[in-house]
Amino acid sequence: MTHALRVHPRDPARIRLVQITDTHIACDPGPTVFEGVDTAATLAAVLDAVDAQPERPDCVVLTGDLVDIPIPEAYARLLALLRDRNCPVVCLAGNHDDPVMMARLMNAGAVSTSRIMDFGSWRVLMLNDWLAGSDRGRFSPEELAFAGSELSAAGETPVLICLHHQPVPVGSPWMDAMGLDNGPELLNVTDAYNNVRGMVWGHIHQEFSMERNGIPLLGTPSTCVQFAPGSGEYAVDPLAPGFRVLELLPGGALCTRVVRI
Ligand SMILES: [Fe+2]
Repeated sequence: MTHALRVHPRDPARIRLVQITDTHIACDPGPTVFEGVDTAATLAAVLDAVDAQPERPDCVVLTGDLVDIPIPEAYARLLALLRDRNCPVVCLAGNHDDPVMMARLMNAGAVSTSRIMDFGSWRVLMLNDWLAGSDRGRFSPEELAFAGSELSAAGETPVLICLHHQPVPVGSPWMDAMGLDNGPELLNVTDAYNNVRGMVWGHIHQEFSMERNGIPLLGTPSTCVQFAPGSGEYAVDPLAPGFRVLELLPGGALCTRVVRI
């Protein structure tokens, strides 16, 4: 079984997670090729907004596209922003990442590439849908087996699943053309267990929320550039960067909201 990162929440009756996603850090300071946005500056502003919240998170999850182009200098710049955080920061690869390079460079200080976080009364699973040479995502048979075995091992403990690509269409044709190849296969696995209490992802650079069988399925704004919901083709949304707060409550209830800077 994969080693779980044990996290001791400050209040076990209200575990507090912050999700940041699609940080797209570049190798050099200043404006980037991504719509001219200084992605390190917008991430720093998002982290300031996280710190300005009334309560600090027990854990931060970063759900992919950590860097814009996977080179060590970009990961080093990201690590410098995250390694001294006052709670664990757990990273998952997106289509812009190199998972091997990410795992080599993003395990220092508060930062890790842990796959399982055990909060006692909740578990969080980080599922890797990275597909070599593609903007799309796909779960390998091994990853689906990992999901099944960890959901089985969790027993009655509620589980939040984090991934990079949207497992269901979000209603934006260009974005849904680069979604998850085998979302239904993931849902087949999760449907076999009654402990999955939510799914949260990045990739779509916009807020999204639906319920499926009473379970919230949630997409989260990027910490940099936003994409316009419902658009047929690539379109930037002028909305501000943001993050998601998730409160994991006893019995599997989940409260969440998006905060924009
Ligand atoms: Fe992205």
